[in-house]
Amino acid sequence: MESFININNVKFKYEGSDTFILDGINTEIKKGEFTVILGRNGCGKSTLAKHLNAILTSSEGNIFIDGLNSSEEKNVYEIRKKVGLILQNPDNQIVAGVVEEDVAFGPENLCIPADEIRKRVDNALKAVRMYEYKDKAPYKLSGGQKQRVAIAGVLAMKPECIVLDEATSMLDPEGREEVMETILRLNREQNTTIVLITHYMDEAIMADKVIIMDKGKIKTEGKPREIFTDVSILKDSGLALTQSTELLYKLKKRGYNLSLKALNEEECAKEIINFLEGKECLY
Ligand SMILES: Nc1ncnc2c1ncn2[C@@H]1O[C@H](COP(=O)(O)OP(=O)(O)OP(=O)(O)O)[C@@H](O)[C@H]1O
Ligand SMILES: [Mg+2]
Repeated sequence: MESFININNVKFKYEGSDTFILDGINTEIKKGEFTVILGRNGCGKSTLAKHLNAILTSSEGNIFIDGLNSSEEKNVYEIRKKVGLILQNPDNQIVAGVVEEDVAFGPENLCIPADEIRKRVDNALKAVRMYEYKDKAPYKLSGGQKQRVAIAGVLAMKPECIVLDEATSMLDPEGREEVMETILRLNREQNTTIVLITHYMDEAIMADKVIIMDKGKIKTEGKPREIFTDVSILKDSGLALTQSTELLYKLKKRGYNLSLKALNEEECAKEIINFLEGKECLY
């Protein structure tokens, strides 16, 4: 996979502050990759998210988005077209009184011709399965539906990458599932690069790569199976274990020879059954 985002020794402090909120971040996100960023409250996740579409620019070091240096003013417009950002509260992202007008808002600002906007709005609403709501008022929708309209608004700008900053945290379980399903589909079917910031471990286990941040630094990064089974790193970073790892970890502490590598309920059940049948660890 080719590289899409390159973060090179990025440091950042807010104006008037002496503290580096980002304190030497280095990482690479590849095109079409699904990356999850985790870390305790205040570790700098949202600050980093805002760097990915040039709302904030680094105090030191550089971020390249598809080869474009975000510190250069001339690249900002192009970067915003390439990277769409979705925030926590859908109410803050909806600007129009009718769903389809809301979705058209982004492409209108990009000065795209009207017939092209029409096509993009319809396609974006279909992609998030909200097409039949196009004439409705957003305030009448559920939280999950509103967040899907917000995603459609970003999709209509045809970004190559979508960054979601705790975009499901205000939604009920059904709304969360709707949004996650939409995101996964875009990633798999359209190769959209996804960066998801979340506190939900069950969302994170689906990622290609997990990054754990702590105090403005990247503490570790790797595949979910490596990261989520490293109990000491998770506990050190103030993160919860997945329910599966928690159960296996407790059983292991009681002397049962189980591997912690099972990520979800199904793998966990298989690992326990296998153990009861006296076989080797599965993962
Ligand atoms: N506009 C700002 N001006 C000054 N300091 C800020 C500003 N925004 C955030 N901070 C500080 O930067 C630090 C990191 O904040 P950030 O919102 O990036 O963390 P986070 O990892 O997203 O946290 P959370 O999990 O609570 O969303 C915090 O100490 C916060 O108080
Ligand atoms: Mg945040």
